[in-house]
Amino acid sequence: MRYLTIGLLTVVTAIAPGCAKTERPAAETATADVFSFANTTQFVTRHLHLDLDVDFDAQALRGNATLQLERLDGNASRIVLDTRDLDIDTVSFLVDGGMSVDADHALGDRDDTLGAPLTVDVPPDLEGDSLLSLRIDYNTNPESTALMWLPARLTAGGEHPLMFSQSQSIHARSWVPLQDTPAVRITYSATIRTPTDLVAVMSANNDPAAERDGEFTFEMPQPIPSYLLAIAVGNLGFAELGDRTGVYAEPELLEASAWEFADTQAMLESAEAMFGPYQWGRYDILILPPSFPYGGMENPRLSFLTPSLIAGDRSLVAVVAHELAHSWSGNLVTNATWRDIWLNEGWTTYLEYRLMQEIFSVERAEEENVINYEELLDNFERIDPKYQGLAPEADLDDPDYAQGTIQYHKGNLFLQFLERSFGRETFDLFITKYFDAHAFEVITSEQFLDYLDAELLSAYPGKVGRAQAEEWLYEAGLPEGAIIPRATTLERARELAGLWSSGEIVLDRIPMDGWSPHATIHFIDSLDADLPAEKLAEVDAALGLSNTQNAEIARTWFTQVAKRGYRPAYEQLGNYLKRYGRARLIVPIYTALAGNGEDADLAQELFAAARDNYHPQTVSYIESRLAERQ
Ligand code: BES
Ligand code: ZN
Repeated sequence: MRYLTIGLLTVVTAIAPGCAKTERPAAETATADVFSFANTTQFVTRHLHLDLDVDFDAQALRGNATLQLERLDGNASRIVLDTRDLDIDTVSFLVDGGMSVDADHALGDRDDTLGAPLTVDVPPDLEGDSLLSLRIDYNTNPESTALMWLPARLTAGGEHPLMFSQSQSIHARSWVPLQDTPAVRITYSATIRTPTDLVAVMSANNDPAAERDGEFTFEMPQPIPSYLLAIAVGNLGFAELGDRTGVYAEPELLEASAWEFADTQAMLESAEAMFGPYQWGRYDILILPPSFPYGGMENPRLSFLTPSLIAGDRSLVAVVAHELAHSWSGNLVTNATWRDIWLNEGWTTYLEYRLMQEIFSVERAEEENVINYEELLDNFERIDPKYQGLAPEADLDDPDYAQGTIQYHKGNLFLQFLERSFGRETFDLFITKYFDAHAFEVITSEQFLDYLDAELLSAYPGKVGRAQAEEWLYEAGLPEGAIIPRATTLERARELAGLWSSGEIVLDRIPMDGWSPHATIHFIDSLDADLPAEKLAEVDAALGLSNTQNAEIARTWFTQVAKRGYRPAYEQLGNYLKRYGRARLIVPIYTALAGNGEDADLAQELFAAARDNYHPQTVSYIESRLAERQ
């Protein structure tokens, strides 16, 4: 069996023979990015300039990209870039005095995962030049896997269209021809032309006061990997949250967003105190429509967020802590290849946990830690052991499907284990030193291991051996000594769910009013598998589950509804599936429906009715899930 994960989800994709153990890649070869065609050892991009028109009618970006390339290999005369579904118009080199020289170029065959390589020959005239300025005139297509073009009806205001990008993991190439690998860091600038009633924002220096005159310019002076290139255009307003923080959202959502995310500035200050200086200037957040495929995306200076976080009680803001924490782990120190994703996501989940302790409480952080741990156990059961190391040695098919709970939550537990072993004070010094030493670099898991060994394991001998660290990196499951998270509030909720399921207590006796949403989620998840419909109706009515505004509670409830075929809640379940395009919220529900023995057709029907509301990355994920159930 082959099991793959996306975001926080897992899928069995195909039946494949045995799982032969591969050789551990040597540190030098580990940086070769199998998900990019780019010949980055010969040419490397230093800067990108984009000049693009945003055409909502054609659902296309149209204009040009200019890459400043450094030739590392004096003998190399052919540049290979990544593209996917781009129409390439002209390719030329800009030379002194504003002249341009047309270049021979060719687009290779399209691979479903990788797209098509664009090869460009450097003209003989430019043979001696080590710095090249390569301009590509092109347009994107409506099927770009990064871009989503929303008609007005899918926005909060309902009157203006909106578009946004999602470049991670390898989708930047579907809106910009470039070297699409995390191993290359670039600075960028952009001129973006929009309809005059709309605002453009990017993962760059946004100006909240910019006039709506149809043209927006951006600078991103810090070098970033391509998966952090981001753009959104819509009827966006801005509200200040603190002196360095603010929120962009449609005007209809601005007030609720500003209230929900009021802690953002405090999070930023806490993060700086714990992890070292924030290196990116401002930290703003952008609230997108419900079609946004993730909970959050750490686009530098401007995290993109799902509106499903607006629960009205600030209970889901751990996602903001998470995306903010990526400003250190991921954006400042970046995984060299997608196999090293735990350096981004595991580290970030740990920093998120620390921030939640600081901003809210140790108890709340621990509840979230327990929920994550249970998800991890679930993944250990379903995922092939060869993908269970933090830095799996087995080849990955598609980097989007290589991310998963394991890298997030096992990574978090590894760092908690190190913190416990060396003491918080020592470990905190290690954290700031690590980010400082590798700022604006990319690293592999093996480079991390060497650094960890030098700075911590060998510096404080007798606590954790290198072999123990290697076990976390390369072996399946959880190594001995892992700290198992516990939260008494959640244990109590589980116990009460058992007692109520078996009829030993009545619902009125359960003190749910004082519960956190996490405890409610735990309670719903712990209900007996064979609970009769009357009892489901009782708990639904008592807790208002089918109509809850908390998208995470709804996700848990509708997954139970689907598993148990509880029809009275199907209408609301259908509405929920239509409303949200965040894969984490809806995929478990489709999967449960398709797997309950009765509703496979209904799952397909609901998907057909909702798919126009989903981002291409969500669509492809649901398709692969439902295909397994055929
Ligand atoms: N960088 C990820 C989102 C991502 C992962 C996009 C893999 C594409 C491929 C982001 O930081 C993230 O992890 N988001 C989570 C939220 C988090 C609190 C676990 C999500 O979207 O659910
Ligand atoms: Zn993340």
